[in-house]
Amino acid sequence: MTDARQNAGADDERVMSRTHDTEHGYAIEVSGLTKTYGAHTAVEDVSFAVRPGVITGFLGPNGAGKSTTMRMMVGLTPPSAGWCTVLGLGYRRLPNPGRHVGVLLDASAQHPGRTGREALTLAATVMGVDLDRVDEILDLVALTPAEARRRTGTYSLGMRQRLGVGQALLGDPRVLILDEPANGLDPAGIHWMRGLLRGFADDGGSVLLSSHLLREVEVIADELVVIGRGRIVAQGAKQELLASGGTLVRGVDDQRLATALTDAGIAFTSAADGGYLTQAPADQVAGAASAAGVVLVELRPAEGAGLEDMFLRLTADHSRENSQERARR
Ligand SMILES: Nc1ncnc2c1ncn2[C@@H]1O[C@H](COP(=O)(O)OP(=O)(O)OP(=O)(O)O)[C@@H](O)[C@H]1O
Ligand SMILES: [Mg+2]
Repeated sequence: MTDARQNAGADDERVMSRTHDTEHGYAIEVSGLTKTYGAHTAVEDVSFAVRPGVITGFLGPNGAGKSTTMRMMVGLTPPSAGWCTVLGLGYRRLPNPGRHVGVLLDASAQHPGRTGREALTLAATVMGVDLDRVDEILDLVALTPAEARRRTGTYSLGMRQRLGVGQALLGDPRVLILDEPANGLDPAGIHWMRGLLRGFADDGGSVLLSSHLLREVEVIADELVVIGRGRIVAQGAKQELLASGGTLVRGVDDQRLATALTDAGIAFTSAADGGYLTQAPADQVAGAASAAGVVLVELRPAEGAGLEDMFLRLTADHSRENSQERARR
């Protein structure tokens, strides 16, 4: 941690004058975040940055460490090691944080006896936000006046997510940290969320959102940080990650194709939907197959297959079926 980060003086002024003008132009910086629970390491040496104007997807299977990382980012869970700054400061050092960072960690963590409108009004009062903003927000998250009068205990999951996103946006923050905001939304709801976050980012805002579904972040995010078993396994621009899948090849007889590739010294892995994935260029793969007299039925850039394959492997590593199998062994 630098001296500047440790220096508590004039935090208010510094952050109030700030939108995203941190040292490196990042809105969020996460460095070496680690969390251990007894002998179990939930999050290990996680580092990434979130840029303004960009939606960053934090992708990983169930139990990968997304929520734990986000809880550490907003000061709810003390890290075992590492640090995170939001707009250049530790979250707990942000004055009136809701005015700078909108956070949605658990949409069901509302008081079930309060109406949606009451929840927003209370949050607005705590943050010192004009109460007119409550109606604006209800409108923005498409909760009808009748719905806003209902107790949140009667809300569907999708309605809770809308209210939670509304609460995160209430203080007109520059940064959003949202844990699984699309969870429980129907396709129209996901489309709505995408438009909302895109507009927020286009206005220069910074968004970090987590998901355990590749397809979901694929449609919403510009950049991806992929986490598996507590560690970052890939990060970068979505387009690049999707494009970096190498070559997908499928033969009439995959067994013979595998032998041909091995004989030609080409490393490969089995693709999720059959055939093989390799980093070798297509002409080299075609050459190897042809030399061995193997007929190909498919040879193309793998596109998203590499990322999907990696994600499926991560998911398989985590799946209950697998752990039960491991436990039996
Ligand atoms: N308070 C805690 N005590 C012990 N272990 C914990 C605690 N909180 C989280 N863990 C463990 O840390 C790991 C990561 O959990 P986390 O909730 O961060 O995963 P996640 O990526 O958010 O998963 P999901 O997609 O299911 O929300 C899991 O193995 C979990 O059991
Ligand atoms: Mg989680």
